[in-house]
Amino acid sequence: MSLSEFVGQLDALLEAAIEAFNLAHTEDALEEARISFLGAKSGRLKTVQKQMGSVAADDRKAAGQRLNEVKQLVQDAFEAACARVQSQSGGTAQPAIDHSLPGIAAPRGHLHPLTQTINELKEIMGRLGFEVAEGPEVEDERHNFDALNIPAEHPARDPLDNFYVNVGPAVPMLLRSQTSTVQIRVMESRPWPIRIISLGRVYRPDTADATHYPMFHQMEGLLIDRHVTMADLKSVLRMFASSYLGADVHVRFRPSFFPFTEPSVEADFWWNGNWVEFGGAGMVDPNVLSAVGYDPEEVSGFAFGLGIERLCMRRHNVTDIREFYRNDVRFLQQF
Ligand code: DAH
Repeated sequence: MSLSEFVGQLDALLEAAIEAFNLAHTEDALEEARISFLGAKSGRLKTVQKQMGSVAADDRKAAGQRLNEVKQLVQDAFEAACARVQSQSGGTAQPAIDHSLPGIAAPRGHLHPLTQTINELKEIMGRLGFEVAEGPEVEDERHNFDALNIPAEHPARDPLDNFYVNVGPAVPMLLRSQTSTVQIRVMESRPWPIRIISLGRVYRPDTADATHYPMFHQMEGLLIDRHVTMADLKSVLRMFASSYLGADVHVRFRPSFFPFTEPSVEADFWWNGNWVEFGGAGMVDPNVLSAVGYDPEEVSGFAFGLGIERLCMRRHNVTDIREFYRNDVRFLQQF
């Protein structure tokens, strides 16, 4: 037999073996195909191998090499088929993977509704010229109380109404109960004019219910300049309210009292048939201006503090503040 005839037989055998293994879908069928091609006594590979003796002596080395290669390829094809048959019969009858199907996209998260609200409030106030300032959440009594004209005997300083923290013997510290602390920090650190907002967490030992939570967020605002009046304050708050809640929002200012403003008001927005309080505001008390080294004869200013959760709740008709902190995706997904 010539070398090319011998190699031709081997190639034909390889092709036939691959086809037979592919067609076998059970272990029995595969075993049958294995015996027919790789069987030690009368497998087809053996039969071809036996004919090697009739190949011319000079060509025998090449013939042997090709024989070994084909043997290996048939063996590989058999093993691959074994793996396939096993995984198919592996109980759950899984269909073969279809590589042409589109993939399953990983679900994408998004910002928490309060973070989205904070970003939007910054955007609106930014258009009115207010820049963002920040302050620490763990505060000393000077910034949370004294400089804000809240004297030592004032009931707002009661340890039962604040989260005092034990961070060392030197100075009493507490989790800030209001973002008004940032007013002091900003005025201490730079000269007027000032036009800032500060948005962040505040802490009070309240029992959680539909409208209270021991940690919530406020947006503080402060504007200091010459000739600032109550009319400026009311314009800014009205403009803010109609930008965030819609042009048809009703705003009401009620006389009130805060130690750090004089006069003081509370701002109510109309919501589902009721006036609801959204925060406090007023003209910065001269004592506060003096406490930071400004001259109350020279400058005046207004300040306000609004509840961010409440704004977000009115905007999206959320009726329970606790929803923001339950981390239930069925709630969060809706924003
Ligand atoms: N700090 C007050 C509170 O938490 C809210 C407030 C009232 C802030 C009047 C102000 C203000 O800046 O002028 O209840």
